[in-house]
Amino acid sequence: MKTALKTTILLGSLSLVLPATAADFKKDVLPLLEKKCMSCHREAYKTSSGRTKKPKGKLILSTPAGIKEGGSEGDTIVPKNSAKSLAYTRVTLDKTDDDFMPPEDKGDPLTEAELKALKEWIDAGADTGDWKGTKFDDAGKKISG
Ligand code: HEC
Repeated sequence: MKTALKTTILLGSLSLVLPATAADFKKDVLPLLEKKCMSCHREAYKTSSGRTKKPKGKLILSTPAGIKEGGSEGDTIVPKNSAKSLAYTRVTLDKTDDDFMPPEDKGDPLTEAELKALKEWIDAGADTGDWKGTKFDDAGKKISG
């Protein structure tokens, strides 16, 4: 038997005995925040026409400090309590609700898998690990993070 095939079988049986692991911030949560939230929720920046764009709702989701601090209403992410976390409750409302995130027609709603990852991550304590924040250029292209 080829080694690769043996490895696959071994990993397959291992996953049956190991408990399900909680969502991983960098692998499962950060990509959805970068793709679906940070266009509106990142540090203030100047557009090419010189206008300053401020984070919507005073909420910065592109830095660990911003996530901790939350937006103007507070309680953006309440560690271990997704039900009290606006970042979770507002993505699980009815899509036509005025509070739904991302706002209607302004981005794709989170998928089932993304919702699950976000919930698991918050309920496990919302640890951002060694992430230092995600940076974008003025055109909104990710530079680092
Ligand atoms: C197209 C722009 C846009 C995108 C994309 C977007 N938001 Fe928002 N968000 C807003 C605006 C505008 C507000 C302020 C008005 C309001 O509270 O509805 C806001 C407010 C919020 C608030 C409340 C902040 C506070 O304390 O007042 C939360 C939480 C939030 N957004 C989470 C998210 C999450 C999570 C995502 C990604 C899934 C997301 N948003 C994507 C525009 C956006």
